[in-house]
Amino acid sequence: MLRSCTCGDLRIDNVSQEVTLAGWVQKNRKMGGMTFVDLRDRYGVTQLVFNNDINAELCEQANKLGREYVIQVKGVVSERSNKNPNMPTGDIEIIVSDMKLLNSSAVPPFTIEDNTDGGDDIRMQYRYLDLRRNNVRSNMELRHKIAFETRRFLDAENFLEVETPILIKSTPEGARDFVVPSRMNPGEFYALPQSPQLFKQLLMVSGFDRYFQIAKCFRDEDLRADRQPEFTQIDCEMTFVEQEDVLNMFEGLMRHLFKYVKDIDFAEAFPRMTWEDAMNFYGCDKPDIRFDMKFVEIKDLTEGHNFPVFDSAEYVGAICATGCASYTRKQLDQLTDFVKRPQIGAKGLVYVKYEQDGSIKSSVDKFYSADVIKTWLERCDAKPGDLLLILCGDRRKAQKQLCELRLEMGERMGLRDKDTFAPLWVVDFPLFEWDEDSQRFYAMHHPFTMPNPDDLALLDTDPGKVRAWAYDMVINGVELGGGSIRIHDGGLQKRMFQLLGFSDEQAQDQFGFLMDAFKYGAPPHGGLAFGLDRLVSMFAGLDSIRDCIAFPKNNSGRDVMNDAPSKIDDAQLKELFLELNLPKED
Ligand code: AMO
Repeated sequence: MLRSCTCGDLRIDNVSQEVTLAGWVQKNRKMGGMTFVDLRDRYGVTQLVFNNDINAELCEQANKLGREYVIQVKGVVSERSNKNPNMPTGDIEIIVSDMKLLNSSAVPPFTIEDNTDGGDDIRMQYRYLDLRRNNVRSNMELRHKIAFETRRFLDAENFLEVETPILIKSTPEGARDFVVPSRMNPGEFYALPQSPQLFKQLLMVSGFDRYFQIAKCFRDEDLRADRQPEFTQIDCEMTFVEQEDVLNMFEGLMRHLFKYVKDIDFAEAFPRMTWEDAMNFYGCDKPDIRFDMKFVEIKDLTEGHNFPVFDSAEYVGAICATGCASYTRKQLDQLTDFVKRPQIGAKGLVYVKYEQDGSIKSSVDKFYSADVIKTWLERCDAKPGDLLLILCGDRRKAQKQLCELRLEMGERMGLRDKDTFAPLWVVDFPLFEWDEDSQRFYAMHHPFTMPNPDDLALLDTDPGKVRAWAYDMVINGVELGGGSIRIHDGGLQKRMFQLLGFSDEQAQDQFGFLMDAFKYGAPPHGGLAFGLDRLVSMFAGLDSIRDCIAFPKNNSGRDVMNDAPSKIDDAQLKELFLELNLPKED
């Protein structure tokens, strides 16, 4: 070993010990006849002291050390006269007697400190340097801890970790596949798995009973702060279970992670909400329930007063912002601009200020008397001092807009504290969603999801109304995981494919292996998958999952460090029997 201890180890108890340390030069300061060097490794920073009076040559060498030089030093641990209570090693320093330069370093393109001067792009380009920073590294440590605790919990529950292939058959549905050409099978392509879904179901047919995998998944979709083209799932499946069993098991996993990673115990069972309620009260299938501010429908109370905007709307919904009646004209204008942004698309915003003295001020008081507006306030349970914000339009569209407004108000009112965690199961998702453009149903979760047995008769008469045995785990408005009970009956699976518009031949071609497997005693089974990246970033309070991935892609799906994706040479293309047909550049 090139060291006897790490840069995070030494304390006052170690004073007088002779030690050898190795690490990177964080900074280097000359003060009179002394030179102080902060030496850093993964575990911490230790101050080194070089004394010109004792060893002028060594001190001279120390003065020449640049940032990020790699050195090995020998010395004696000594109590610091000027202690630094902000550093775990701040009570001591090393009086260096010997130093070896292990490697020099070019000047780093940004400072390797918590508050670095490096912008996003440069840090991503030099990600290996960015990873030397405490906050980035601690995200990776947290990720390790979560993965480790996941394995500990699932192992104790008899789950078997099984790897499934990365080169698989391309199946449409869901996101776009990334594909890989096969040299040995000219003209044919593998796909990278969007998830191990079919393999885990096959493992249940194989009798593995309980499976999990911390699995890489790949989806060619538009990227956002919580989406990467390659990401990691904690993917799980169980045999002989119903929805309730799966929810209980994985609520257990979440509790375990909160307890052992964050030291948080949840006293109550995680609440459950139907998809229908989530949409009607929060306007989305992943409500942030750290705060209330539920939607209240007031369409019936607005009718008959010749206000065409409300009269012509299918839906009029309000949220009540407690204590916000004092909002100024400027603040209300800002909110109006917010809902009118193209991404949100509302035409306007109506407000009602319920002043402390009980009087009412509203942007629609030309149309509605105070008495009528009072009926809205009553339904919303508003108190003097509160502010109603009202949006209208087509039901689902207006609810979606109101959802954005609610979250914005939650933010402005400081109700979305990153250290508060509000888990929620969303259940009873619809089995299908109708797509206007292609005039067909799509599976809301995936085509292998079991319809709720109570709704089976509706499959033939009104498929859009069928509820699925599907569930999502949502925490603080983020979809952390989701899953379903699967169809294990070949006949029902065939019917699903029909409803999804697959011909028998297409279904056989794409999913034949699954349908065949189901002929050999497929047991009832179900499971779910959590997004590991989202989980880590939630635990760490990050704004983007990129920050908890060692080598992430940027928003254009690019790894700017190694410049992937990149062109391949003609010989490689030829070997794969591929020809490029790129659009002409202007
Ligand atoms: P689903 O598609 O809901 O389900 O994915 C499960 C979880 O994976 C995470 N996730 C992502 N994280 C980062 N970047 C992405 N592009 C991305 N896409 C999804 C989310 C999500 O909740 N096979 C099913 C699971 C099952 O039915 O068992 C599946 O993949 O946190």
